[in-house]
Amino acid sequence: MTRAQIIGTGGYAPEKVMTNHDLAKIVETSDEWIVERTGIRSRHVAAEGELTSDMALKASLRALEMAKVHPDELDMIVMGTISPDMPMPASAAFLAHKLKATKCFAFDVSAACAGSLFGMSIATQFIVSGAAKKVLVVGAELLTRGILDWQDRNTCVLFGDAAGAMVLSASVDGKRGVMSTHLHTDGSVADILWIRGGGTLHPLSQETLDKKLHKVQMNGREVFKFAVRALTESVKEALEHNGITADHVVHVIAHQANTRILDAVLERLGIAKEKAWLNIEKYGNTSAASLPMTLDEANRAGRLKEGDLIVMMAIGSGMSWGSALVRW
Ligand code: UT7
Repeated sequence: MTRAQIIGTGGYAPEKVMTNHDLAKIVETSDEWIVERTGIRSRHVAAEGELTSDMALKASLRALEMAKVHPDELDMIVMGTISPDMPMPASAAFLAHKLKATKCFAFDVSAACAGSLFGMSIATQFIVSGAAKKVLVVGAELLTRGILDWQDRNTCVLFGDAAGAMVLSASVDGKRGVMSTHLHTDGSVADILWIRGGGTLHPLSQETLDKKLHKVQMNGREVFKFAVRALTESVKEALEHNGITADHVVHVIAHQANTRILDAVLERLGIAKEKAWLNIEKYGNTSAASLPMTLDEANRAGRLKEGDLIVMMAIGSGMSWGSALVRW
């Protein structure tokens, strides 16, 4: 059986770091509150002029180098992002151009923080069906410019800029690779995390700008509760589908939204916290970048051994969420 195998990973975070103490000078918050409620100590902020596709390029080049894949070998690029360079065309088109990847098609996926997981699932289907041989999946987010309301302490303390990438190709032995992906969306709760302005409902106008409709709005408590429930169910679904128990999971690579969310999910699943790779402390919530960047960190640290069973999970606005089981 053909499986899609992750043969290269890459990550990138801009140089500039903004600590909780820096934030406390802008909004009424404290390092203590942010650390205790989220686990975040700092986040990275893109340089002036740096674009989402520039960050995506850096992460992608690292993943391609590890995979020993030339950009011209790529059949497809899928990019998860809610902070594209511009509304049209897809940022994946700019990325393909910057990579000089001339033989592929490229498109963005809009599934917010679950964007890379959705992208990985799409890539897997293309590879398993034989429609694509080498696919680049990227998550890149520049949330600190434009989208965040720097006067809203409920949201501005949470997010940061980064990019993560992975290269997938058909597994040689058919054993290593993505064993399953399970994706879900529930639009009935879209209002707990959204950006209302800038689309056809509220086209950009002076009024939408004054009302800050183009900024992220979130009901944190509701997102928290939804995330714990949805992620737990989604991982259970993945384990059951593969006839595997939680004891067999060697690593957890999760979207880094809040340490408390992850702790609660792992406790419900009976998976030891130590199995999860954490980097939220340094980067905050980097939305679609988070999952591939976390995978890359664990990979480059030499933590992932051939044959290890990895469970992945992510959730974001939509609400959209899911899980994946991967044999490394
Ligand atoms: O990828 C998905 C993206 N989103 C998420 O994952 C967010 C999920 N939700 C969360 O992580 C948490 O709900 C938050 C970290 C956002 C908030 O933590 P919480 O424990 O749910 O706090 P809360 O919203 O219930 O607020 C508790 C208090 C409130 O004050 P009062 O009403 O008790 O006086 C808030 O006004 O904390 C206050 N507060 C803050 N205080 C200092 C809210 N934000 C801040 C802040 N600094 N940054």
